[in-house]
Amino acid sequence: MAIISDNGDTKFTTKRNPMVKPETIEYDNTFENSIRPKDFDSYIGQSALKETLKITLEAAKLREKPLDHMLFYGPPGLGKTTIAGVIAAQMGVEIKITSAPALERPRDIIGILMSLKGGEILFIDEIHRLNKVAEEILYPAMEDFTLDMTTGKSQTAKTLRVPLPKFTLIGATTKAGELSSPLRDRFGMIHRLEFYTIEELSQVVERTAKILEINITREGAIAIARRSRGTPRIANRLVKRVADFAIVKYEGIIDEFVANESLDILKIDEFGLEPTDRALLNLIIEKYDGGPVGVETIAAALSEDVRTIEDVCEPYLLQAGLLQRTPRGRKVSPEGYRHLGIKSPSEQTRLF
Ligand code: ADE
Repeated sequence: MAIISDNGDTKFTTKRNPMVKPETIEYDNTFENSIRPKDFDSYIGQSALKETLKITLEAAKLREKPLDHMLFYGPPGLGKTTIAGVIAAQMGVEIKITSAPALERPRDIIGILMSLKGGEILFIDEIHRLNKVAEEILYPAMEDFTLDMTTGKSQTAKTLRVPLPKFTLIGATTKAGELSSPLRDRFGMIHRLEFYTIEELSQVVERTAKILEINITREGAIAIARRSRGTPRIANRLVKRVADFAIVKYEGIIDEFVANESLDILKIDEFGLEPTDRALLNLIIEKYDGGPVGVETIAAALSEDVRTIEDVCEPYLLQAGLLQRTPRGRKVSPEGYRHLGIKSPSEQTRLF
């Protein structure tokens, strides 16, 4: 459906947010939580994972056993927390959500383990950041459902074994490679979450638009999906932002034109790249002849921290084939050059 608009004179005073990134923008918890699917039917994508989980959950119910501990890994925003919530809802159990940086002191992890009830799910995000002491406490808890606590000092020290209710740990990480092998080995199921296809993302977009009570055409949903970097969290944020434009400027309907126009204004390009992503590629091309260059150098030049570059910017740039990781650092691919409209060294005519 075509909506004719008077977009010639754009008068947006809306605060622009150049960083519609999974982990770096202010977290709109209420919104994100309110649209989280609660069952497998409304959870779009990750079909291989869903099929395995349905069987696993059914088997656990039939055997009246707790679920195996599970580890989900993959780039941020692909639905690791969401799938854990779906699992809890399907099993009819409570889920306690925490993240490794919040479990700094032994008493943090002991406290949360002791608060669990039988069958409950403990979700630990960023589990690769768990410290050694917390890991050591977790091993017997995961394996034998016991808490080994030491009381007293050196020679008089005693170990106390406290039984724990049978619980399921769901760990999530963007960096499975950084998990220690003893911890990794204690998970009965390890699954990588994949980037979403445009079709899957457009379904996510349509579902969210419906929850937001905003009209959207199929083409509008696809246009938003195309710029969502394979990530539902980004798709959802973009729907919300485009919906604001639609309500204020375009009679409350998101079609292809409205979606593209709004995303252009938000400086999100056809690949879903944002100013920081383009700045990263540009930097490597202009200052380092296209690379290779170390991630620390890139981070310092962009005034970003290494973790943001590695965990937030890079996964999609690598997956989209715009950036390459080599042993000597990051390199912009010929695709990356093409995307920025710059001739790659191999395309440049040799003059000498
Ligand atoms: N919102 C975020 N992730 C989703 C998914 N996988 N399915 C539906 N809605 C979502």
